[in-house]
Amino acid sequence: GSPFVAYRGRELHLEDCALADLAQRFGTPLYAYSRSAMLEALAGYQRALAGRDHLICYAMKANSNLAVLQTFAQAGCGFDIVSGGELARVLAAGGDAAKVVFSGVGKTRAEMAQALEAGVACFNVESESELEQLSDVATRAGRTARISLRVNPDVDAKTHPYISTGLKGNKFGVAHERALATYRRAAALPGIEVVGIDCHIGSQITDTGPYLDALDRVLDLVEAVETLGITLHHIDLGGGLGITYTDEQPPQAEALVRALLARIDARGHGHRKILLEPGRSLVGNAGVLLASVLYLKPGGAKNFCIVDAAMNDLMRPAMYEAWMGIVPGMQRDEAPQTMDVVGPVCESGDWLGRDRHLAVRAGDTLAVLSAGAYGMSMASNYNTRGRAAEVMVSGSDARLIRDREQPADLFRGEHLLPR
Ligand code: LLP
Repeated sequence: GSPFVAYRGRELHLEDCALADLAQRFGTPLYAYSRSAMLEALAGYQRALAGRDHLICYAMKANSNLAVLQTFAQAGCGFDIVSGGELARVLAAGGDAAKVVFSGVGKTRAEMAQALEAGVACFNVESESELEQLSDVATRAGRTARISLRVNPDVDAKTHPYISTGLKGNKFGVAHERALATYRRAAALPGIEVVGIDCHIGSQITDTGPYLDALDRVLDLVEAVETLGITLHHIDLGGGLGITYTDEQPPQAEALVRALLARIDARGHGHRKILLEPGRSLVGNAGVLLASVLYLKPGGAKNFCIVDAAMNDLMRPAMYEAWMGIVPGMQRDEAPQTMDVVGPVCESGDWLGRDRHLAVRAGDTLAVLSAGAYGMSMASNYNTRGRAAEVMVSGSDARLIRDREQPADLFRGEHLLPR
């Protein structure tokens, strides 16, 4: 997946840090991220967009650690948020609210008010009811909400059904055929200023085709909307570009964006501001989850490698049957055995990898690869397990960017009944 993760001799490194050393120093489970890998991934998008009016809004749900947000904010990024909590993180990390777009089907009144107060660039509105409520909240606050409609282009992103969002049966976006009427309504509502259009068709997309199809559908709408006398200043094409977990070969960000821009130009829309909302492709390959082998448990039907990281740390295998690479921190000479890598949580679904060939002993470090996206940000406290620590690596420097959660952190805010 990433040139920043590689063996040097027998030792697996993230940039210039040996992963077994990080495990030793910070404990496990541990998320470790390469700062250079993140910036390099961003640079691909930036190269393609250079010289154009654009804004890259990092979809922070992929990894919302403050130091990660700070890294992207300093590199000029805006953010795609989906909650008031995410907005608070952006501000705490020194991000600029004026570069924030607010997505999501279920924004509350309180979140709308908070985002208006902060001055976000745009609300990506997903339904007519949301539009009416936003108008009401904005009018009461004496503010104007800049909006774009998230349209559902009804294209198949050909990805996992749980992370495909651009098809008719999805809860996301305004149906293509309702879009014109909804724009007309938006233009007439007080407290609302129409500024753009957006779509997002899914995640872990490995093909340029669905993007171009969605873009064509969106451009058709842009042209139709403008015949109503409504100006769309920006086009937001969402996120969704996939990464390599095993043998996927997604297009490079730079190539994808160049293809999209070529189509935009060919159709005469080159003057519009372009927004993108990449998440996974900026951080996924930059991160690993480190775990320690607790026990090897040979069995008749299966061999198990029990590690100290579990589904609560990394949900993707349990939730999507996602395949993620698992490799040893230090290579051993002995013959590999086939084993399931599982965690300590009391669920049969608590596995990180099945039928893996590994030569490991108790105490060894294992690295789950490409875990920088939707890893820590989806972690839970199930089984009252504290969430992992996180470190940011830069060259040979490794810095703690999140403390390991302690048991007392987990029941802070709970109350015993009066006796
Ligand atoms: N914009 C919107 C409106 C989104 O809903 C998403 C992701 C993104 C941008 C960023 O998409 P990305 O570039 O990361 O593909 N937990 C799942 C992925 C869920 C994606 C949800 N939406 C997983 O682990 O595969």
